[in-house]
Amino acid sequence: MYRIAPSILSADFARLGDEVKRVIAAGADWIHFDVMDNHYVPNLTIGHGVAQALKPHLKRPDGTPVLLDVHLMVAPVDPLAERFAEAGADLISFHPDATNHVDRTLQLIRGAGCKAGLAFNPAESLDVLEWVIDKIDLVLIMSVNPGFGGQGFIDSALRKVEQARAIIERSGRDIRLEVDGGIKVDNIRRVADAGADTFVAGSAIFGQKDYAAVIAAMRAALGEGAAAGAKPAVALAA
Ligand code: DX5
Ligand code: ZN
Repeated sequence: MYRIAPSILSADFARLGDEVKRVIAAGADWIHFDVMDNHYVPNLTIGHGVAQALKPHLKRPDGTPVLLDVHLMVAPVDPLAERFAEAGADLISFHPDATNHVDRTLQLIRGAGCKAGLAFNPAESLDVLEWVIDKIDLVLIMSVNPGFGGQGFIDSALRKVEQARAIIERSGRDIRLEVDGGIKVDNIRRVADAGADTFVAGSAIFGQKDYAAVIAAMRAALGEGAAAGAKPAVALAA
């Protein structure tokens, strides 16, 4: 039920392919790909060319694909969403305040064959969900202000996760609830208790030598993994 999505924002960009392979071998469920444009957020990261180059490596040793979870922190959204769909994104999330026409952007992403997600900044309300809940596959709650890895978790995000969980339950739809920013081994349980099922973690994983140990500790905190008698982490489906 839970998914751990390491953010490669904190990986060694000089060895990105190896880093992705290593973190998949360590038990990553998804690969979280943070796209920043130095306009919507004050930072610049990696683009669709890098996503396309990594895509063939997003699989487990047995060949099962690992989902490419693209988080767009860009404005405007539409032109880059198209590029990332072509590059092989499985899921594309964007911030509703970064596009003029949220519904149109969602249609564009789904029309391109990807799953669509909406990302909410710490001070942003979830109101828009009421109008587009039937067109999304994921809600992404930001627990830091977007733009940088390694920031501290903003506690008010927990209340927003609870709200989002209630909205998702009411919809009766199969929608993932992802939380992004400041997730560590010692707070992941609280975030899950608030209702999240998918966890982005950048510096917590790539900041340590042993990626597998961090991911295993996160699963243990969630009550999954060997301690809970579940399947080994690497065998979990995408
Ligand atoms: C922030 C990014 C996050 C970030 C998370 O704008 O969207 O995905 O990489 O990094 P940590 O886990 O270090 O907070
Ligand atoms: Zn992100």
